[in-house]
Amino acid sequence: MQRYKLLISVIFSVGLLLNLYSQTEVPVYLDEGKPIKDRIEDALSRMTLEEKVAMCHAQSKFSTPGCPRLGIPEIWMSDGPHGVRMEFDWDDWLHAGWTNDSCTAYPALTCLAATFNPDLAYRYGYSLGEEARFRKKDIILGPGVNIYRTPLSGRNFEYMGEDPYLTSAMVVPYIQGVQKNGVAACMKHFVLNNQEKWRDTINVVVSDRALNEIYFPAFKAGVQKGNVWAVMGAYNKYKNQYCSHNEILINKILKTDWGFDGVMVTDWGSAHNTDEAARYGLDLEMGSWTNGLTWGVSSAYDNYYLATPFLDKIRSGELPESLVDEKVRRILLLNFRTNMDRSRTYGRKLTTEHKSLAIRVAEEGIVLLKNENNFFPILEGKYKKIAVIGENAIKKLTQGGGSSELKPKEEVSPLQGIINRYGTENVVYSMGYASGAPDYNNVLPSPFDADSLLHAAVEVARSADVVIFIGGLNKNKHQDCEGDDRLNMDLPFGQDKLIGELLKVNKNTGVIIVSGNAVSMPWLDKVDGVMQSWYLGSEAGTATANIISGNTNPSGKLPFSIPKKLEDNSAHYLGEKSYPGDGTNQYYLDDILVGYRWHDTKKIAPLFPFGYGLSYTTFEYGKISTDKKKYSEYESVRVSFTLTNKGKVDGAESVQLYMSQKSPSAMRPAKELKGFDKVFLKAGETKVVNMTVEVKDFAFYDEKTGSWVVENDDFILHNAASSGDVKSSITIKILN
Ligand code: GLC
Repeated sequence: MQRYKLLISVIFSVGLLLNLYSQTEVPVYLDEGKPIKDRIEDALSRMTLEEKVAMCHAQSKFSTPGCPRLGIPEIWMSDGPHGVRMEFDWDDWLHAGWTNDSCTAYPALTCLAATFNPDLAYRYGYSLGEEARFRKKDIILGPGVNIYRTPLSGRNFEYMGEDPYLTSAMVVPYIQGVQKNGVAACMKHFVLNNQEKWRDTINVVVSDRALNEIYFPAFKAGVQKGNVWAVMGAYNKYKNQYCSHNEILINKILKTDWGFDGVMVTDWGSAHNTDEAARYGLDLEMGSWTNGLTWGVSSAYDNYYLATPFLDKIRSGELPESLVDEKVRRILLLNFRTNMDRSRTYGRKLTTEHKSLAIRVAEEGIVLLKNENNFFPILEGKYKKIAVIGENAIKKLTQGGGSSELKPKEEVSPLQGIINRYGTENVVYSMGYASGAPDYNNVLPSPFDADSLLHAAVEVARSADVVIFIGGLNKNKHQDCEGDDRLNMDLPFGQDKLIGELLKVNKNTGVIIVSGNAVSMPWLDKVDGVMQSWYLGSEAGTATANIISGNTNPSGKLPFSIPKKLEDNSAHYLGEKSYPGDGTNQYYLDDILVGYRWHDTKKIAPLFPFGYGLSYTTFEYGKISTDKKKYSEYESVRVSFTLTNKGKVDGAESVQLYMSQKSPSAMRPAKELKGFDKVFLKAGETKVVNMTVEVKDFAFYDEKTGSWVVENDDFILHNAASSGDVKSSITIKILN
């Protein structure tokens, strides 16, 4: 009997210990010491089908539910590419009116691209990620990397210009910077969102070659070099399938060929079909207007394509459960990379570093297009009366524009920046023209009388020593604004006429264009000083004043070509089918000849070429040389040349390296950008610029074989100050 009692007590105590152990044992999915793939599988195995399906779609405008029972957090996301957007109501498109959701508004990405400075791109992404983390966002809905194909696209200001190499080189460090904070970057809009007109439905017809040489590279770089954790589908179609659930784009190219292991998110409302969303690679459905008839049904999240309809199809056996498992695996990976990584930083916002970065990017992005008779810099004390004319000198341009709108804690306007720099007593302002409120849905007429504004401005200009006109586009509909395109390439709101009238009374007039797109400049010959500026964000005025006063030497270079007239642009030259399409289909007839590739190859000179930008100093380029004369396709070419700052002020020059193939078997552009380097030089200083380019990057995409080809041929390498200003060239032989 005694032995029996002993046995019972031993069994009991072992059971107690096991029970205790099991209560203290951390489940695998919560054990940060375990491999992530094991944690994912463990979490997945514990989830019900309902919980798995719930993970795949929104619970509110900007969040998904996670799995509360298992302690898997909600995923919160926010726009946008150049700042953390204000908070929204749970279930509608209204600002929530919080008082602690202001941000640092960084310059728009076109400005970042114009810096030609990847180091800045990393710092930009890191600072944006810090603010997103501080605001408890797990995904920041940016960067946008769609190629600038037409100067009319409403969203070019959010993107990084016309060249795939520049965009790729800038987007990788940006993503790395964001994700360093444990916040997912969400590269968008995959793919072919190169106009806003008919964006929700247009089916883009484009060659495989143009896809691979022009429209894919930045996305591919973001995935393979940037290791981006999320990608957002574009609204439009490709091969008559919506991009957000597209078998070729997502299942084959993004996830298989490129090895993307992150989450494929819709754009808001870009899902249209349960079967396709289930089968063609969509992982996370946001913002769908489920009934498809109205702008949205309140709290209709269970009606989403990847909600109850998806659940029902799995339950009925019509769709395999493996489809939802694959989606949840990717979403859980995003959880583990972000809100379930307890080692990630806590973020910060509105710091002095963020502010100084915003200034730095703005300063390095402003492009000096023309500077005769030493119009710029306007040194302090040079003039007693400076007239500042134009609505963009005061307009809050961080508002409007669509989803990239921001609520900066402060926004120093160009006028305020100029007053801060030169003193109130030396500056006089007149609006000159007005555009009305930044209204997303309607182009509101100005509440001001155009004539009276013009005449007041002319009188101010008449009596001034110098006139600085600050105009351009803004974030109203049919301007630089999501959801539609510009109607022409001209400056709106009567600005050309106003500039003409100002010049009649004061020849000493300079023009600063604030925009995200090229504008026509009929007054160019009559103006001594012209700058292309951008939506510069919180510190717009500080940076503008620093540049025009010479406190900082401009070093920006154009990330897109400025054509002499709209019809000179590739998309428009080839007619309506090419742009905007026929309402159902759009044909990229310009194929690989986009931007300077078009202008150089077709010999249609632009007004200002891609990569162009002046400085307050001058730079002298030495002759380009290479380490060898012959290379195989698996080798690197080491290029070098000297660069000298010939002037009296320090400055920076973004030198560019272009490649041409002498006798290609296929049509190739006259030249293609294959490298660049921003070189900072003291006055009088000379540096040797060394660049390494991979011969494999000289390849073109061969549609017949679906592969990249480097042919045995002579290739010419050019060092250049812009696509229109080659300094020297050298021929090398590629022999495979
Ligand atoms: C918008 C935009 C997208 C944005 C999303 C959420 O329609 O196309 O860029 O991130 O909806 O606001």
